[in-house]
Amino acid sequence: MENNKPILDEKEEQWQELLKDCLSCDKCALRKTRNKVVFGKGSHDAKIMFIGEAPGESEDKEGLPFVGRAGKLLDKYMTVFDLTLDNVYIANILKCRPPQNRDPDESEQDSCIEYLRTQTKLIDPKIIVCLGRIAAMRIIKPEFKITAEHGLWFKKGSIYMTAIYHPSALLRDPIKKADALLDFKSVRDKAAELGILPVGNGFHAVP
Ligand code: URA
Repeated sequence: MENNKPILDEKEEQWQELLKDCLSCDKCALRKTRNKVVFGKGSHDAKIMFIGEAPGESEDKEGLPFVGRAGKLLDKYMTVFDLTLDNVYIANILKCRPPQNRDPDESEQDSCIEYLRTQTKLIDPKIIVCLGRIAAMRIIKPEFKITAEHGLWFKKGSIYMTAIYHPSALLRDPIKKADALLDFKSVRDKAAELGILPVGNGFHAVP
């Protein structure tokens, strides 16, 4: 019998398959300490992807990225610039929480990165925003220096990439918030330049 399923369904099937694989992943030792796998959240049709480092305690409990204190701050920045889970997808380099929130080690990243690669292929974003140093070093370049290079744009293939301070860094050092605001504005301007989102009205309110 002829298969007349629309192409969109095929893509959603790939998402479902990837999610299933990821939820039962046993590729690294974090499987023993995780509570929940944190796959990602947001729109599968997003043109903008935010990539963080790894789940923290709240994310590990809820199974969703950026739901703790850092996530609440990220939400505020997103709201300021009309970014929502309808026009953005959010994922992490690691899908499982490293104990005590230590930095993800190289072998954990190597084990996990294929999930993020597939998520990125399925989404096909025009803009990738790395949240913090760890994501920038993995996604943009290994020698990335967050203090010197946050807010700069890099192009890989057809994707524009930038890194901004991790919201946890902003909680630790609020003086960085002024830079973060400018970096978010640059993301919003790039989205307007690429025709992804309408030109913004400027800041709605400052976190
Ligand atoms: N920090 C991250 O990098 N990712 C999360 O999901 C939460 C905190």
